Amino acid sequence: MRIIIVGFGVVGQSFIKILLSKSAELYSTFGLNPRVVACVDSNGMAVSPQGLDLSRLLEAKRMKKSVSAYYGNKKFCPSTSEIIESTEAEVMIEVTPTNLENAEPGISHIVSAMKTKKHVITVNKGPLALAFSSLLELAGYNNVRLAFSGTVGGGTPILEFAKKCLRGDRILSFRGILNGTTNYILSKMEEEGLTFQQALADAKQKGYAEATPKLDIEGYDAAAKLAIMANWIMSRKVSIADVSRCGISEVDLNAIRNARQKGKAIRLIAYCDNDQLNVMPLEIQPDDPICVSGTLNAVTFSSEYSGEKTIIGRGAGGLETASAILRDLIEIRDSISVPFDLMA
Ligand code: HSE
Repeated sequence: MRIIIVGFGVVGQSFIKILLSKSAELYSTFGLNPRVVACVDSNGMAVSPQGLDLSRLLEAKRMKKSVSAYYGNKKFCPSTSEIIESTEAEVMIEVTPTNLENAEPGISHIVSAMKTKKHVITVNKGPLALAFSSLLELAGYNNVRLAFSGTVGGGTPILEFAKKCLRGDRILSFRGILNGTTNYILSKMEEEGLTFQQALADAKQKGYAEATPKLDIEGYDAAAKLAIMANWIMSRKVSIADVSRCGISEVDLNAIRNARQKGKAIRLIAYCDNDQLNVMPLEIQPDDPICVSGTLNAVTFSSEYSGEKTIIGRGAGGLETASAILRDLIEIRDSISVPFDLMA
């Protein structure tokens, strides 16, 4: 399977590391033989129809800060959309940073790939939080898949759990923690008495925060994920602009201590039902199943027949999010040929 990777930050590089460490297993278990034919970052690109050497690609990025160093001398660089359109490949993986104002450049990359009949995997929340329905429609029109498991929950299959494991039941509402960075900050303040700024610096250093941490702190990231979930799980036609949002920048150590004295904990909670769509810091009971620590995400779904169930797992991190890309890739591989484990 030929793959174009667009965006080569922590998640893109983690995905390559997984491919390198598991290539034999991916083939023997899933019939997956990925060949990365192009890789683009903000400073250039490396292209090879035969498949790039993945160790060399990581080394170019590590040593020279750009995949363009793969060939030694810098070559002429066409635009990213030109590369996406003109390179023969089955799948484009879009992992550029999230832009929640106009979804660029991610949305243009996704459109270019779909128009040239490439399946798309993205962990970029911007395009889906702003234009969910039209992108799904474009995918259908071009007969390609648009897979986005890693946009919500990092490596935790929150979207798949709700969409696939509860088929036939109707989800009436859900509430939960969708942002790992703010949860990390709040729990570090609560458990270790760190100030907001100390906890934020720690989260940035560990690579949990968005390229623009304001997206985490002010609740935009959680709101984007909530909009994606509302569309995908509740069939609501909404965008991030429809989410009522408040972040955690006003939550100081005093507020955390006050909550603690009442036997409660402060968490940034996202909520969706058929009318409401909101993200705000709330005091919750420590024994509430969604009251998790660190970068964990947790969502409780309330459904018509089977009641409440909660899914919890790591919501941020390079390898975690890259594992969601791999799940999507295996699904696409299965959808375009006979699932490997069903082959005789
Ligand atoms: N910055 C995001 C978070 C990364 O902290 O949850 C995963 O989407």
